Amino acid sequence: MLIKVKRGWEMPERAATPESVFMNRRELSKGLAAGSILAAGAGLFGMRQASASVETDPTADLYPVDRNPKYVLDRDITNEEDAITYNNFFEFGTHKGIYNLAQEMPLRPWTVRFDGLVEEEREVDFDTLVRAMPLEERLYRHRCVEAWSMAVPWSGFTLAALIDYAKPLSGAKYVRMETLADEETMPGLRASWYPWPYVEGLTMEEARNELTFIATGLYGKPIPKQSGAPLRLVTPWKYGFKAIKSIVRFSFTDERPIGFWEETQGAEYGFWANVNPEVPHPRWSQATERVLGTNERVPTLLYNGYEEFVAHLYADKQDERLFM
Ligand code: MTE
Repeated sequence: MLIKVKRGWEMPERAATPESVFMNRRELSKGLAAGSILAAGAGLFGMRQASASVETDPTADLYPVDRNPKYVLDRDITNEEDAITYNNFFEFGTHKGIYNLAQEMPLRPWTVRFDGLVEEEREVDFDTLVRAMPLEERLYRHRCVEAWSMAVPWSGFTLAALIDYAKPLSGAKYVRMETLADEETMPGLRASWYPWPYVEGLTMEEARNELTFIATGLYGKPIPKQSGAPLRLVTPWKYGFKAIKSIVRFSFTDERPIGFWEETQGAEYGFWANVNPEVPHPRWSQATERVLGTNERVPTLLYNGYEEFVAHLYADKQDERLFM
């Protein structure tokens, strides 16, 4: 199925983000700085707080967690308000200002399912799962295929730890992940030309790579809904569309999964999606990126700067479309 639809990220960013959203965001930041929104109550402006509600999240006591010093940045950490109010989460809409809509997503109960080629298929409650995992904080860069980037402190655990928990069989070659698809709270699902639910996949080697992370927290707090609560994938050497949010299912399989964007537009988005400044998107350059917050334009790095960790994964795959 190849339907030509106009997506948010096909437009210049100025067009993709309505000015009203920018304006609201500025007003919100100003208000937060002055403490006025908290005092007045976020509801007054018809907008909820962008950050997680620490009082109501049953895992809030887990954060902050110790930072793993191995993963260092070459740039400043992105301002929190910028990172959590500029999102791609098509289940809530195709523009960047979906953070208030995303607050409708129900987070509890949240059940995570493990199935396919596993010793035993099972479902686990997220709160039980996260308390069984070794939590740490990591500073990672994030590079969207739309050519903007951020650098943020994720909290969570390695996907390798989760795979050990899931106990896949030796025949598993890929892990396929699926996002919640809740028609009641996700207006984006009404766009029936998209292949919902959002799906992404990795090879088992990629999934077990030390960089591959499941984020459950951000900026030392539970991860906000718009950023992919309660758990999302983080693969910092790949374009951001691989970083599937709000995961409800991990399936182990011997067939390469077809991701949401590969299914939607396979001529432009593929399975590997590794960052490479020298391989342009068919309709724009990937040579540089706009840093969220400062709007500075900086050169994009091969594998987003994580070459030493991941280049070996692709040594025998040079005939594949590794960079789209
Ligand atoms: N996951 C789901 N379920 N739905 C989405 O639309 N967008 C992807 C990725 N994960 C997306 C998703 C894209 S294109 C990017 S760049 C990142 O989420 C954005 O993450 P952020 O909003 O935390 O910056």
